[in-house]
Amino acid sequence: MAGEAERSDRVVHAEPAEEAENACLKEQVEDPALVVIFGATGDLTSRKLFPALHSLRRNGILPERFGIVGVGRTELTHEAFRERMRSALFGESGGDEIWSDMAERVFYHYGNADEPESFDKLAHLLQDLQERLHTGGNILFYFAVPPSLYIPLTRQLGRAGLSRQERGWRRLVVEKPFGHDLESARTLDRALHESFAEHQIFRIDHYLAKETVQNISMLRFANAIFEPLWDRRYVDYVRITAAESVGVGHRAGYYDRYGVLRDMFQNHMMQLLALCAMEPPSSFRADPVRDEKTKVYRSLRPFPTERLEDHLVLGQYTSGKVDGERVPGYTDESGVAADSLTPTFAAMCVYVDNWRWQGVPFYLTSGKRLAAKRTEIVVQFKQVPFSPFRGVIGEDIGANRLVLSIQPREGVSLDFQAKAPGSQICLRNVTMHYDFGSGFMPGMEAYEKALLDCLLGDQTLFWRQDGVELCWSFLTPVLMECDCPERSDMLYMYRAGNWGPQAANRLLPDWDGET
Ligand code: BG6
Repeated sequence: MAGEAERSDRVVHAEPAEEAENACLKEQVEDPALVVIFGATGDLTSRKLFPALHSLRRNGILPERFGIVGVGRTELTHEAFRERMRSALFGESGGDEIWSDMAERVFYHYGNADEPESFDKLAHLLQDLQERLHTGGNILFYFAVPPSLYIPLTRQLGRAGLSRQERGWRRLVVEKPFGHDLESARTLDRALHESFAEHQIFRIDHYLAKETVQNISMLRFANAIFEPLWDRRYVDYVRITAAESVGVGHRAGYYDRYGVLRDMFQNHMMQLLALCAMEPPSSFRADPVRDEKTKVYRSLRPFPTERLEDHLVLGQYTSGKVDGERVPGYTDESGVAADSLTPTFAAMCVYVDNWRWQGVPFYLTSGKRLAAKRTEIVVQFKQVPFSPFRGVIGEDIGANRLVLSIQPREGVSLDFQAKAPGSQICLRNVTMHYDFGSGFMPGMEAYEKALLDCLLGDQTLFWRQDGVELCWSFLTPVLMECDCPERSDMLYMYRAGNWGPQAANRLLPDWDGET
């Protein structure tokens, strides 16, 4: 026993020391810069972007010389905008030293894409701030606005000469959705490229910036034991789930036009799929990583639209109870049409037609108002090829299963068979689990990491346009087929607080849809 205790002690010391972890958190941005946020009075700015910038400042990651300019269509003074952001960060009253220092570098500008002169004035303000704050010519533009404004805003930036990299870099951050279908994605891209080159465009997908999602690559490519098993010879299926307990909230106007396939599949789900299915990149840099993902998207088997029901289940939530509280059905949410056929749940089975994955189904599922928030990837391994225990315990032996839990808690679990104690041969499924929350210090919030990478100019965790287009090419035929009212028979209702419609059970192995 003493020997065992010593051994396990050594294992604990072999884990990363706190200083080493601190070093992982510190990556200082050297380039001075201005961050210009369009949609400054919107939800994303106050809920995500300012908290992320504040935290980056607190951790000493932002450059010494920086400034933030909020741009919006509401007339506001600099002071009134600072007060809004302060209260978003600290509530009714309060603040901290970091904020006092930051607030002096926060400015506001009235800008409207329909009023070109407001962009000329913005150019003057930025010129003036660059001199006052000594930020050089580096500017990060962030579009935290409805997608319909992306094209007019880019054109105004181009017209006012703000995208030109004469004395420093200019970068543009665009939030998803990147278009509504393949055609509109291409139109948007052409418009962005009128003023910005590809290396200046950062198409953000906040899932990629989650520590836990980045960890998928580390688990696969920094450990020798998983890769040899990671293919059609050993894997039975892969199930990727992004379940949410929240409803559409105040975003109904957007959501009702997009639905779950455009809102979650065209971006986050496709990225999770690529991270599971891609080959090891030659290096962990932007283009080698994105090249490998692109190969996965190129290998997606086109959806058999004539047999859509065999591969796709769509659902919409009705009223029910979530976390003990009564919640309205989707069509009773404010801002949703009473006869809306927009799906809030989808389960689909896709195949990656390549050497590694031939014949292995990937089940992708996402939905709102499900029983719990849970994002996970399940790699289900095949049964043993032959059981020497069959005479004693029958043919069935539970197969191994690796579960990568992404949220709400990050962890990795492996299910395997063990002998239950006793004189008889009796097998029991047991689980080995590692919980990242208790093993590591908390990491960076997704928007912090995304903003940091934009300031560093690292596009590894951002979409490249070829990937966007390949995913739209895959999904657009499906959307065209099921977007039309004649296909309303494809939409199954499920009570809020369940795991989606019962119909999902026939598609997804081990699924617990409404019964
Ligand atoms: C967003 C979607 O991209 O991701 C939302 O538009 C969804 O509808 C959200 O709720 C989920 O993100 P997270 O980080 O909460 O899993």
